[in-house]
Amino acid sequence: MDVDDVSQKPHDRLGQWLAADMDAVNALIRDRMASKHAPRIPEVTAHLVEAGGKRLRPMLVLAAARMCGYDGPFHIHLAATVEFIHTATLLHDDVVDESQRRRGRPTANLLWDNKSSVLVGDYLFARSFQLMVEADRIDILGVLSNASATIAEGEVLQLTAAQDLATTEDIYLQVVRGKTAALFAAATEVGGMIAGATDAQIAGLRDYGDALGIAFQIVDDLLDYGGVADTIGKNTGDDFRERKLTLPLIKAVAQANEDERAFWTRTIAEGEQVEGDLEQAMAIMARHGALEAARADALAWIDTAKSALDPLPDHALKAMLLDLADYVVARIR
Ligand code: IPE
Ligand code: IPE
Ligand code: MG
Ligand code: MG
Repeated sequence: MDVDDVSQKPHDRLGQWLAADMDAVNALIRDRMASKHAPRIPEVTAHLVEAGGKRLRPMLVLAAARMCGYDGPFHIHLAATVEFIHTATLLHDDVVDESQRRRGRPTANLLWDNKSSVLVGDYLFARSFQLMVEADRIDILGVLSNASATIAEGEVLQLTAAQDLATTEDIYLQVVRGKTAALFAAATEVGGMIAGATDAQIAGLRDYGDALGIAFQIVDDLLDYGGVADTIGKNTGDDFRERKLTLPLIKAVAQANEDERAFWTRTIAEGEQVEGDLEQAMAIMARHGALEAARADALAWIDTAKSALDPLPDHALKAMLLDLADYVVARIR
């Protein structure tokens, strides 16, 4: 396929441009996800890794590094590191969320059990640190270890905000910045760092990843209410069932009349849900334009992401990162 074919999805074009690097990343991931002593580890990791996933975060590391002129080899280690961190958080997240589908397959917690998911997730986290140490850059280690702590913090904050109708958009933003945007931001930042980019460029890359990650999670939360399970590879309606205060719900609650308030109190605060409640929730959200308003917020973050790349040099990869930003919100349709 033609790398310049603009009809392709931006992440496919990125994948093609970075194909040789991504092959090396995937080989490294396969090599390091194994374990000589505990066969359960490669069983669980292969189930998740072979299912694919978009590999967005490693591509962000590689694109940032290449765009800033890096010629290898440690961008490969850093890209594998972020995908390991991501995979570990997915294993843990599906236990916490009691999810049953991931990447179009049954989740590991369903096929094996919660214990395996938690322990294999821990293993992958530890492996990610072994990988990043190989790049021998204490500053990069600092960025990635901060991101790891921030992700966990975001997940815990979300846990305590769930079911709480008083959750504000500010708290939501803090959750999303932590659980999702921190790794996107670290991915682009360490790509620039390993390439020896200027401070302004590294800051721009970081801000791009942060804003892109926020928009990405807002869209993921919208897809939970509007997506088709077959196209997103996970179940829809999970957030409502788990009584999670995601952005469209927060917006709808803020505008609720008395009857709607009673509905949210019963279904979200008290967790008494019956057949038809999800449809009712969707109808209330539609009445208040909550999904459209959340989508508008995502679009504003995309503008922020794109402007953040201003200090970066003109490059085919920069153009792809700009397109990727648009695509993150476009995938909603
Ligand atoms: C899933 O991320 C977790 C979220 C931050 C919503 P991705 O949608 O990037 O997952 P994969 O790696 O492509 O499966
Ligand atoms: C996933 O958050 C974020 C992390 C993996 C830390 P969600 O729980 O919202 O994402 P999905 O819907 O399970 O992918
Ligand atoms: Mg989840
Ligand atoms: Mg979750």
